[in-house]
Amino acid sequence: MLFTNPAAIKTAYPTELKAILSKAGADECRLWISFWNRIYARATPLRALPRLAEHLGVGSVLIKDEGDRSVLGSFKALGAPIALVRLILRRWPSSGFEPGRLFQGAYKNEVADFTVISATDGNHGKALAAAAQSIGCGCVIVLHAKVSKEREQAIAQYGAQIVRIAGNYDESVEEAARLGRVNGWEVVSDTSYEGYEEVPRDVMQGYGVISAEIVEALSAPEGQGAPFTHVFLQGGVGGLAAGVLSYFWERYGDKRPQVVIVEPAQADCLYQSATSGIPSRTNGSVDSVMAGLACGETSPLAWKFLETGADFFLTIEDSDATEAMRVLAEGRHGDIPLVSGESGAAGLAALQVLRASDVLARQAGLTDASRILLINTEAATAPAIYAEIVGTTDDAIRARQAAWTSPVTL
Ligand SMILES: Cc1ncc(COP(=O)(O)O)c(C=O)c1O
Repeated sequence: MLFTNPAAIKTAYPTELKAILSKAGADECRLWISFWNRIYARATPLRALPRLAEHLGVGSVLIKDEGDRSVLGSFKALGAPIALVRLILRRWPSSGFEPGRLFQGAYKNEVADFTVISATDGNHGKALAAAAQSIGCGCVIVLHAKVSKEREQAIAQYGAQIVRIAGNYDESVEEAARLGRVNGWEVVSDTSYEGYEEVPRDVMQGYGVISAEIVEALSAPEGQGAPFTHVFLQGGVGGLAAGVLSYFWERYGDKRPQVVIVEPAQADCLYQSATSGIPSRTNGSVDSVMAGLACGETSPLAWKFLETGADFFLTIEDSDATEAMRVLAEGRHGDIPLVSGESGAAGLAALQVLRASDVLARQAGLTDASRILLINTEAATAPAIYAEIVGTTDDAIRARQAAWTSPVTL
């Protein structure tokens, strides 16, 4: 289902939003995270998919490959690690800790008794655990019943203590808050709730690094519009979308691109927020193959950005996402093969859904001149599930990618 947001505005970036998330803040995150040896020392690839664009009848398709950000396999490597560093700097205000050296474990002894806790459906918890291990503090991760054993092991390998609960994602968020209160552990959540905004703000600000790299790669003169017309952003609680769109909005102002928010139909809390006008819950089962997007409740802080900064809200089916994973893995129309996980492929899935219907394409303003930006937010973060869906391993796809040479056009 596609909803056109009547509250969307195309103005200069509002000052009240800039006070929360800014380009300057994202640029600072970019510098700090560059000191962390678990992140690759280069921007993630921004790849053109010209054959796919031709097949879909749009002007161009670019995909930013966040699966290739680090060994952690997702964009979440930019969020929790930054928030953890800022939390430690606030906690030890006169310590003189340098952010970059924190990532290098230079203050291990000072922070050894400090413990952080978070709920996760996989990627956020893995990034937090890896950062805590590098920095040298304790980490507890709360997992809900649907998080696969494979994802649990991927988190545990970074030394985090795992707590398993019987309930769903939202209940795991509550349990993390409770355990934090009881034990004096600091919650590092990627979603905000009443009285808890500072850390999720820092998480979202870290995601702005994605936009900073895109803006740099597609350098356009100041005052000109964005070099893409539509950006598709996956929605869980809304943090990724807020972090990415805020940077584009500040950079391109009233010429910002159209923003399409994509969610599983079973976990459509942002869609529900848009139709009701206030941060809302989903009525769905919150059970989707797109594990990273299986969130039932909107982050109110993220909603402040989506409320007027997102133009369209689209729900997709699990089968749309798995099909998009295969299209990217095969490089089906003659483009470079890409490893894109269940949530990572949701942006392409949405584009394909819109393009398959003249009515929807028209509603979203998609034409043969549209320049599309997609974000592959994760690689095969659950490799066994990936291989089952795609029919071969992520390593095999990466080998094909390494061997791929662009077909010569005469
Ligand atoms: C791979 C992936 N993509 C997108 C998202 C959505 O991010 P957010 O919950 O900040 O909206 C998540 C969240 O976990 C994710 O893991």
